[in-house]
Amino acid sequence: MRHLMNPLDFTVEELDTLFDLAVDIETYPAKYAHACEGRKLATCFYEPSTRTRLSFEAAMLNLGGQVLGFSDAGSSSASKGESVSDTIRIISCYADICAMRHPKEGAPMVAAERSGIPVINAGDGGHQHPTQTLTDLLTIRALKGRLGSFTIGLCGDLKFGRTVHSLINALIRYPDIHFIFISPPELKVPDYITDMLHDKGITYEEVIRLEDSISQLDLLYMTRVQRERFFNEEDYVRLKDFYILNKEKMKLAKKDMLVLHPLPRVNEISVEVDDDPRAVYFKQAKYGVYVRMALILTLLQSAGQPCNLCQ
Ligand code: NCD
Repeated sequence: MRHLMNPLDFTVEELDTLFDLAVDIETYPAKYAHACEGRKLATCFYEPSTRTRLSFEAAMLNLGGQVLGFSDAGSSSASKGESVSDTIRIISCYADICAMRHPKEGAPMVAAERSGIPVINAGDGGHQHPTQTLTDLLTIRALKGRLGSFTIGLCGDLKFGRTVHSLINALIRYPDIHFIFISPPELKVPDYITDMLHDKGITYEEVIRLEDSISQLDLLYMTRVQRERFFNEEDYVRLKDFYILNKEKMKLAKKDMLVLHPLPRVNEISVEVDDDPRAVYFKQAKYGVYVRMALILTLLQSAGQPCNLCQ
């Protein structure tokens, strides 16, 4: 039985197979409409979410399965002091697979160790967000036609943004990637990541101004400043509008540069950019459902629960 804690839990070949399955699901949705009939997904969200939780639920419903769960720690037994290890043992009696989001780094991993069902890390603190990374990779592969041979700019809160940490981690396995990290000095990418890039001989630059590097980019990954992970509100207020991508800045970019964002957006992308064909963040959210469908099928299979497919 497999879990998903980190994008690196899957080899590059396994990811290719998963993405092929996601594309098949997108092309032939009816074939998968009853694939998970009789199966249940539990969504255990100890931290707020709209997209991730609902996209997991939509994914399971699209597969003909059912969903149960909670969407904040206050409405679960965590508020009575129950540990995630105990909670997952109980959830294992009620559901066939679980997606868990938790503010504490490593909590889904602790749950996976005690779980009788596959556990998917749906975001743990500022650490990892593997299903967002699968979404990002599928979007890039579908719209650029390749994973590799590009310059990617990651812009915004590179310190606390778990989607950024997960994506860098996953991209370094593909050839010929150059990173440009665009952030204020206070929100720089953590040292453990730049140390890892050094060790692996992967090239990167760190810059402050988006205008200075946007023309070099094949992909621009925007992120919001992660207010909930700041220690004081003053710092957040000072940094929150550091970057605003608008039409003027888009004029400096390549004609085929793609703009991605894990969402939710706050002010970092002006709404006037939404109509630019290079802005693909809403399409990206759609790919998130297909890739989660493919993941649920793959992990259930790994737990000896093959799915019913109408050929
Ligand atoms: C991201 C997250 O939760 O880390 N959202 C998401 O899952 N799409 C990004 C964010 O909250 O900024």
